[in-house]
Order: sequence, then C-alpha cells, then structure tokens
Amino acid sequence: MKSFRDRVAVITGAGSGIGRALAFELGAAGCKLALSDINEAAVKQVAKELKDAGRDVIADRLDVADRDAFYAYAEKVLKKFGTVNIVINNAGVALGSTVEDTSYEDFEWLMGINFWGVVYGTKAFLPHLKRADEGHIVNISSVFGLIGVPTQSAYNAAKFAVRGFTESLRQELEIEGSTVSCTSVHPGGIKTNIAKNARMSSKVSTITGLDGEASKEQFEKMFRTTPEQAAATIIAGIRGNKRRVLIGADAVAIDTMQRLLPTSYQKLMVSGQKLMRKRS
Ligand SMILES: NC(=O)c1ccc[n+]([C@@H]2O[C@H](COP(=O)([O-])OP(=O)(O)OC[C@H]3O[C@@H](n4cnc5c(N)ncnc54)[C@H](O)[C@@H]3O)[C@@H](O)[C@H]2O)c1
Repeated sequence: MKSFRDRVAVITGAGSGIGRALAFELGAAGCKLALSDINEAAVKQVAKELKDAGRDVIADRLDVADRDAFYAYAEKVLKKFGTVNIVINNAGVALGSTVEDTSYEDFEWLMGINFWGVVYGTKAFLPHLKRADEGHIVNISSVFGLIGVPTQSAYNAAKFAVRGFTESLRQELEIEGSTVSCTSVHPGGIKTNIAKNARMSSKVSTITGLDGEASKEQFEKMFRTTPEQAAATIIAGIRGNKRRVLIGADAVAIDTMQRLLPTSYQKLMVSGQKLMRKRS
C-alpha cells in the first residue's frame, strides 16, 4: 500500500503504547481511524486528541478476546466508514511466570488476547478487506515470536503462533492473487506500559533472582525504542509490503542470533540468565 490518504485503518489496543502511536502516525498520513481498546477511557482520550487535530476517528471499547464482540465491531466499522483497508491486531498483554507456576486461567487469559484476539481480528475483517481495492493486515508478534525465553512460555506460545498464523495467511493470499496482504511484526523492547501492566508470578524469582516488581523493572530497563519509532517502522513495512518487520537494534540482534544459532542460542540465554541471577 503506497498511499494512506482516505484509507480506513482499524487499530486494536489503541489506548496506549504502539497502538496509540500508530493512530497518530496513520492519522497524520491521512487515514480514517477505527480505534478500540479494552480501556475505554484511554482510547476515548486518544480519539479526542486526534479529533482536535482534525482527524476522522471513532473510538470503542473492545475486548479482543471476545469473538462475538469483535464481529459486531467489524460491522460497526463497516457501517461507519463503508470500507476497511488496514487492520492492525496490536492489543496485547504480558505475563511472567514459569511453566510450572502458570495457572490455566493465566495461560487462557494471555492466549485469549495475544493469540485469539489476532485470529478474530483477522477473520472478522478479512472478507471486508477483500471487498476493498486494497487491504493489509498487520499482526503484532514479538522478538519472543522468534526465540523462546525463560518465564515467557505463554507469551512465547502466543507470539510464535501469531507468526505462524500470519506467515501461512500471507502465502494463501499470494497464491489466491489477493489484493489483501499481511505482515508479521516483531518488536524488541519498546518503551510502553506493557511491563507495568504485566501479570507476574512471585515464582519468577526462581529464574530471575528478582521478585515480580523487580523483574518488571529489569525488563523495562532493556526497552530502548519509542512507540513513535515503532509505529514509523510498522508503517514503512506496510508501504513496502514486508513479510516480516523487525523493530529496534535489539530485534535485529535477536533475529541474527536465532539464524546463526537456531537452537544453541538457548545456551547463551541460560548462561546470561544465570549471570544476572547471581548479580541480583
Ligand atoms: N512493548 C514492548 O516491548 C513489546 C515488544 C514486543 C511486542 N509487543 C507487542 O506490542 C503490542 C502492543 O503493546 P504495547 O507495548 O504498546 O503495550 P501497552 O500496554 O502500552 O498497550 C497495549 C494496549 O492493549 C490494551 N489491551 C489489553 N488487553 C486488551 C484486550 N483484551 N482487548 C483490547 N485491548 C486490550 C491495553 O489496554 C493497552 O491499551 C502487544 O501485542 C505486545 O505484545 C510489545
């Protein structure tokens, strides 16, 4: 997609972080915006700022883990704008916990948002995207969709799944000769609220040597890229119809490590984690 003028863009999780920054960048590029978030007050505030700047925007409360609500939302967007061109399945949450200590409730909570939310968003909008002259789906995975790391098993499972789902969809669309395309996005550490709002098990200390709060802080210290930089990289990825978008130098380093050491990268991770645990 080369031009965003008067294109209709749907963004989930638009009340904060990467989703919020995407709303501002795509709005500035000329898109009409359908923003949603489970945090209604946050997304309404984003919409207000955009409206004040003259953008055409609607904002709704949407829990992406609610399949019926997602389909009803797609109808609402279509009714408002008549078409849809870009769908960014961005809403996500984080969970730090060992496999042993993760409850099924927490696994299902995370998969409901980070995996099923992406599937619902893709399937609810795909028929509408196909009816437009041009369409693009952006699914936000992570560098943790490229490598597995300790305490992130549920997040890893969801983000690897998002990558596989998106890569499969991309090939199907190409074989069909569709006017719709899609991109799998793999951010490194982005300075957002994700770690602050993460569910953390107290047992992460068996791995990290730190309690839940300190583990969050340790994660946040590694976040280097701003949401605005992330949004600009994603938009360049849509323009260039990229299959995979990496965000940040850390993401490039992790991708390179995975290619060079497809399985033995795990030994490096284990040594690094042990060293950090000793220092903490
Ligand atoms: N920040 C990072 O370092 C990082 C790295 C890799 C991938 N990501 C991914 O980027 C995406 C955006 O995260 P962010 O970093 O901007 O975090 P963020 O916490 O700043 O924003 C996430 C937004 O999603 C919303 N949300 C949470 N649960 C929801 C639900 N059930 N339905 C709808 N909305 C919901 C939150 O209210 C919030 O506004 C996520 O998919 C995340 O996994 C982030």
